[in-house]
Amino acid sequence: MSFAPSDSPRRTAVLISGRGSNMAALVRAAEQDDFPAEIALVLSNRADAAGLDFAREHGIPTLVLSHKDYADRLAFDAALDAHLKAEGIEIVCLAGFMRLLTPWLVERWRNRMINVHPSLLPSFKGLHTHERALEAGVRVHGCTVHFVRAEMDEGPIILQAVVPIEPGDTPDVLADRVLEQEHVIYPKGLELLAAGRLSVADERVAIEGAKGGLAPLVVPAV
Ligand code: GAR
Repeated sequence: MSFAPSDSPRRTAVLISGRGSNMAALVRAAEQDDFPAEIALVLSNRADAAGLDFAREHGIPTLVLSHKDYADRLAFDAALDAHLKAEGIEIVCLAGFMRLLTPWLVERWRNRMINVHPSLLPSFKGLHTHERALEAGVRVHGCTVHFVRAEMDEGPIILQAVVPIEPGDTPDVLADRVLEQEHVIYPKGLELLAAGRLSVADERVAIEGAKGGLAPLVVPAV
């Protein structure tokens, strides 16, 4: 599968439930010249999501779709899908969208829906990733941008960023260090997808033109 290159920026929706700092990072990236995606819609399942204000200030159409107004998950997802289609959306970015999507919706957006997660997947799926990383005593932690699949926090990995765990880290300190990297790799992942540089085969992602390689990282430096 490959998302074909296009002359006009890919119409992208960002789905949020709260603060929306990753959405803001995507918006800022898409405001740059020659970025291959435009943020055409910010959708929240909560009317009080703080991120909605940022989107409005940046002139981006917003939509609140409360799951409480729908009988079940499938009805909510069908409405969500209808809105995305009506807006001509081509790519969906989940950005702190704290709601499980049905396999039906995920399949409809296969390889066109991406997510950012605050851990080095497949470690620490789910919630409270920073607390759990500290409890596990791992030396490195980080974040992942991946294609969305029906299972929570599953799916072909596009990009990851590694951050060290430092002595004395608290979950909040670690969360800030990881979030800074989320704001780097999420826009990069969207850029790669929208530019048609990603392909998925056997649930592995290939990146056209990737340079490869990384300086060896040993934490702590000794
Ligand atoms: C981010 O850290 C994101 O990785 C996480 O929620 C936070 C949302 O912050 N998402 C998940 O845990 C999804 N499994 P934001 O609203 O400021 O982008």
